[in-house]
Amino acid sequence: MHASSPILLFLASTAVYAAPTSLPPTSAQVNDPKYGPIPGQSTVFNTYRGKEPTFPGNDSAPIFPTTKGPPGPDDLLFQNLLSAEWVIFSFYQQAVSTFNARSFTALGFPNHTYDRIQEIRDNENGHLRIFQDSISSNSYKPGPCEYSFGFGADPVAFLATQTLIEVASMAFLTGLVQQAQLNASKGALTAASQTETRHEVWALIDIWKTSPFGGPIDTVYPYANQIMDLTNTFIIPGSCPRSNPVYPDPRQGLPRISTVDGTKSLQAGQEIEVTFSEAPEFETGKSYSAVFFHGFLNVTVPFDRATNKTTIPATFENLGLTMMVLADEAGAPSLDSVVAGPMIIVNQPAAISVELSEAS
Ligand SMILES: *[C@@H]1O[C@H](CO)[C@@H](O)[C@H](O)[C@H]1NC(C)=O
Ligand SMILES: *[C@@H]1O[C@H](CO)[C@@H](O)[C@H](O)[C@H]1NC(C)=O
Ligand SMILES: *[C@@H]1O[C@H](CO)[C@@H](O)[C@H](O)[C@H]1NC(C)=O
Ligand SMILES: *[C@@H]1O[C@H](CO)[C@@H](O)[C@H](O)[C@H]1NC(C)=O
Ligand SMILES: *[C@@H]1O[C@H](CO)[C@@H](O)[C@H](O)[C@H]1NC(C)=O
Repeated sequence: MHASSPILLFLASTAVYAAPTSLPPTSAQVNDPKYGPIPGQSTVFNTYRGKEPTFPGNDSAPIFPTTKGPPGPDDLLFQNLLSAEWVIFSFYQQAVSTFNARSFTALGFPNHTYDRIQEIRDNENGHLRIFQDSISSNSYKPGPCEYSFGFGADPVAFLATQTLIEVASMAFLTGLVQQAQLNASKGALTAASQTETRHEVWALIDIWKTSPFGGPIDTVYPYANQIMDLTNTFIIPGSCPRSNPVYPDPRQGLPRISTVDGTKSLQAGQEIEVTFSEAPEFETGKSYSAVFFHGFLNVTVPFDRATNKTTIPATFENLGLTMMVLADEAGAPSLDSVVAGPMIIVNQPAAISVELSEAS
């Protein structure tokens, strides 16, 4: 009886899984928060150890609305966040698939490194489910794309990018809080940022053997979509489900900023030369400055368009992260005032900061 259902036949004919007997769940099933393991209850989001992803990370089918009505107040926010989470989950899942315990112990990293990476992968899988559940069944839930993270088979390159991804996700979560309509969403976003911070702190202590502390306050930047937009560099063009909306929405698609090859240091007070993924649109009659963000502060400094040089404000501490944008107004007080960036400068560990901000 079931096998003759047109929906099941459709799914069976499009299923890309190796085991033809296990059909992916339907949108109606996945739209039910009680379907599958529940984050906060199921140990699968902490203690699962296996190379293969589990639900929902193993379900690449986009989830269609199964009810009619207006979108929930924070549906758009969580659609963006779910797309970002697919990037982050896939980053860890690729590491779990590529490496094993010896990949890390052979280089002198602690023997629990691979174990922790699997546990972080599991936590991120839980985020996928939490963010899916945070979008109402009136709205579409984006599916995963294919990703290339550039770490290949190099565990150190993976660990360096891990630090960047965790600090970036903390920063866009504190920005998304400022977009949220519902108080419950604000709480959920703050709680998720704590999880990312724990992942980051683990790496700072155990992997990089550095202080985990980043000063009295992490960096706040209000334009979260600009940070999420940076993760588009990991998405293989044309690989997203065709039903996925633009990511992030709205997307400015600003030129990315990197430091030039040969940059020696990114300390406060340092003059730096930057390069753009494409030339920013400069309007005649306007003046452009670099705006640096650190903690709760921003500082506007000159940007020399003839040399693409600027100077990281000497007043900043070299802790946590610093962000730089190019803007047509001091303090970048509006979204539209930003014409390029942001560039994320990871201040800890200093040894990897230059590598991470160079164009890849
Ligand atoms: C996905 O993982 C779940 C366990 O979390 C499993 O029951 C299901 O069969 C898997 N689906 C596929 C298509 O492999
Ligand atoms: C790591 O090494 C410690 C001490 O040698 C040992 O007790 C522990 O079981 C090891 N952990 C793993 C995950 O191999
Ligand atoms: C959010 O919290 C504030 C402060 O407690 C309250 O005034 C407001 O009504 C809440 N908003 C919603 C949508 O529940
Ligand atoms: C500065 O950046 C612009 C925009 O990408 C580029 O056209 C120009 O060649 C760069 N200038 C130098 C001196 O590298
Ligand atoms: C930068 O700081 C100025 C002055 O405090 C403030 O008006 C402006 O909104 C800040 N910019 C952003 C993007 O928060």
